[in-house]
Amino acid sequence: MTGCDQSGGLTWRDGVVPVSARFDDPYFSLADGLQETRHVFLAGNGLPGRFRPGFHIAELGFGTGLNMLAALIAWRAAGLPGALRFTSFEAYPLSAGDLARALDHFPEARAVAGPFLDQWAAGGAAGSRRLAWDGIEAEVIVGDARLSLPAWPGRADAWFLDGFAPAKNPELWSADLMAEVAHHTVPGGSFATYTAAGHVRRALADAGFAVERQQGFGRKRHMTAGRLAG
Ligand SMILES: C[S@@+](CC[C@H](N)C(=O)[O-])C[C@H]1O[C@@H](n2cnc3c(N)ncnc32)[C@H](O)[C@@H]1O
Repeated sequence: MTGCDQSGGLTWRDGVVPVSARFDDPYFSLADGLQETRHVFLAGNGLPGRFRPGFHIAELGFGTGLNMLAALIAWRAAGLPGALRFTSFEAYPLSAGDLARALDHFPEARAVAGPFLDQWAAGGAAGSRRLAWDGIEAEVIVGDARLSLPAWPGRADAWFLDGFAPAKNPELWSADLMAEVAHHTVPGGSFATYTAAGHVRRALADAGFAVERQQGFGRKRHMTAGRLAG
């Protein structure tokens, strides 16, 4: 039996998958969001193999935090010293209650999410968040990434490009923003994304990445990944 209920700008498909009312798109794969994250964003960026102390992941679209938690699980399993650094850009942060409800669907991620949810709830309704607990130092920069990424002083080793579908959320996939992603990537750094949209691939190639189409997750035939010259 399928069905939807509404709360806080979200629709809950089958009671478990959050769907953005604003963008009319789900936050993660209806099939298995955690496995999709591992296939697209971790393997697509050559992780965990490229992890090293101080490794820094950046992300467009924090959403439920599922990608961050998947990265943390992989980081802990890799047994490296110190904390994984994770910076995410998010225009419409979800409430702690909605995050918890979404993550309840993924027991493995939920098991490491307790301090994240506590710190998120303590952060109040708006404003950028710094989060730190066992093995991770994260920052969620709240605001439109088209403004906040150009102003960001950091550079990432790997990018998770995880806006909603390019047709529904074109502002998070523009050529200007892809150029900013490249500008905020270390030499030899990488990106991965679930989309294989031609204009996104071309924008990332024009920005300087060596771009390749890879096998997608589940029913998606292709995804895209790329590296900057070292
Ligand atoms: C597919 S969801 C991200 C899922 C997320 N990575 C996760 O692990 O749950 C896309 C996210 O992009 C955010 N977003 C859309 N447009 C944006 C913009 N212009 N700037 C920053 N974030 C944006 C949405 O609010 C949404 O949270």
